Amino acid sequence: MKYLVFNSKKEASQEAYKILKSLINENSTLGLATGSTPTDLYVEMIADYKAGNFSYKNIKSYNLDEYVGISYDHPESYHKFMEKNLFDHVDIDKANTHVPDASASDLELAVKSYQEELNKAQIDVQILGIGGNGHIGFNEPGTPFDAGVHVVDLKEETIQANSRFFDGDINLVPKQAMTMGIKDIMRAKHIILLAFGKAKQDAIRSLVEGDEITENIPCTILKNHPSVFVLVDKDADFQ
Ligand code: PGA
Repeated sequence: MKYLVFNSKKEASQEAYKILKSLINENSTLGLATGSTPTDLYVEMIADYKAGNFSYKNIKSYNLDEYVGISYDHPESYHKFMEKNLFDHVDIDKANTHVPDASASDLELAVKSYQEELNKAQIDVQILGIGGNGHIGFNEPGTPFDAGVHVVDLKEETIQANSRFFDGDINLVPKQAMTMGIKDIMRAKHIILLAFGKAKQDAIRSLVEGDEITENIPCTILKNHPSVFVLVDKDADFQ
């Protein structure tokens, strides 16, 4: 595991983009994340595309998760997030992008088909944020490490943390999500995990320090992955 500390989210994201670009080519498959963490990385990706240095025409992407219970048109859906923050600004073919179909009428079937799609794919680089409780994707504490795609009840602290995107009103935050499992995340060839702000410090400590690997802190499984880059700002740094 490579652990790198930066003065700011911006600087960390610039370095994350350099690392990403060294690991992929224009035919790669990306695992993408949402939330406030990867936004500056997406800014870097868009800028480099606009400068003519990289094309997404043949890039495939798979997103980690999506809320259950809000439509894709909802401004805070992860479908919308991806359009707004990346897909609408690069030449990616929307047919090559995949975000869990969490508003399907048959959720069980949607879970099964996302799993099948992921099983056929090989993600080259998975981008990850991290929850204050150590979740990756929406794999909350207690999720078995061998879990695949599933629907999850979000923990109280996750609902609280994400209420900032829903006018600060926890009643408006979806209570469930569909997520890639830990097993799916671990299949990626490389992982770039970003974390910014004090609220992530404990999770980063558990990830980077010591040997403990526990389902109670999902990110700790990444200690078993052969190629992980962890980039944080100085507020998320625990040292
Ligand atoms: P954030 O969420 O990027 O909005 O902080 C990260 C996460 O919960 O995984």
